[in-house]
Amino acid sequence: MIADINRIAVIGSGTMGSGIALVFAQAKIEVVLVDVEQKYLDKGIEQIKKFLKRSIEKEKITPNESNEILKHIILSTNLEEATKDIQLVIEAIIENENAKKNLFEELDSLCSDEVIFASNTSALSISRLAAVTNRPSKFLGMHFFNPPQLMKLVEIIKGKKTSELVVEEIVSLCTRLGKIAVPSNEAPGFIVNRLLWPFLNEAYKLFETGVSEKEFIDSAIKLGLNHPMGPFELSDYIGLDVMLDIGKYIEEQLGVSYKPAEILSRLVSEGKLGKKTKEGFYIYDK
Ligand SMILES: NC(=O)c1ccc[n+]([C@@H]2O[C@H](COP(=O)([O-])OP(=O)(O)OC[C@H]3O[C@@H](n4cnc5c(N)ncnc54)[C@H](O)[C@@H]3O)[C@@H](O)[C@H]2O)c1
Repeated sequence: MIADINRIAVIGSGTMGSGIALVFAQAKIEVVLVDVEQKYLDKGIEQIKKFLKRSIEKEKITPNESNEILKHIILSTNLEEATKDIQLVIEAIIENENAKKNLFEELDSLCSDEVIFASNTSALSISRLAAVTNRPSKFLGMHFFNPPQLMKLVEIIKGKKTSELVVEEIVSLCTRLGKIAVPSNEAPGFIVNRLLWPFLNEAYKLFETGVSEKEFIDSAIKLGLNHPMGPFELSDYIGLDVMLDIGKYIEEQLGVSYKPAEILSRLVSEGKLGKKTKEGFYIYDK
């Protein structure tokens, strides 16, 4: 059935949505990228073009291949238009349960019964999101990693009512995209963020209680554990607002020992969200 997937919609053209759109376009699947305003779509497509330009410079693709990829991406601010003739919709808007529920409710009224719904949520309950639709068996988490066009993993999250057939279909779609799918039942943070959150949060606490400097902690983790990025570099890369949302949700679900460190909340309230705002734990000049 999934072999018939030839057109999808990705909602939200931020860090993740634009990368996810690129992954599908590279696999020659038509993708409609949707956001609330044209300026966000412009930003998303600019990110995609930047990546393709670098790929041409590195001789990984030709200019013709880049044009072919871009031809598979359609931009839209009109949800009704965007969801015509699609077989799958992937939601990648802000990590806010109510915003996602409102969107899925609207999508449910616009899309035909066959359309599969996927959320790229980092931690939220798939069953709770699915419950606002009339298709909980065709609803699952498709959790891509940042940047989607380079990271191989996609966590496939099963809600309480997700059909096994739909899971199998999406796992084979991931293979078609050149990705490796790892299925998981739902739990706060799924697999990767459940393990990542306490690790990063402990690093924030080591820093804020003066045990060591962030640069030293980053070096220790890179050299001692062979991680490509230290916890502060990784947090800035992911987005401190995204990490705070994940942490708050895991704390709410699993208890106070998961409570976000104060320094993280403070940086977010000051608008220091990491690389995307040019300042987080570190300052970036480009
Ligand atoms: N950033 C990461 O590393 C990462 C990794 C995996 C998963 N995620 C998850 O992916 C999702 C998106 O994260 P992001 O980092 O790309 O966020 P982002 O802030 O970069 O982008 C979100 C985009 O969604 C748009 N948007 C908001 N409400 C909308 C609506 N109702 N309809 C259409 N567009 C809307 C915004 O305008 C914005 O362009 C979140 O659920 C996040 O938890 C993020």
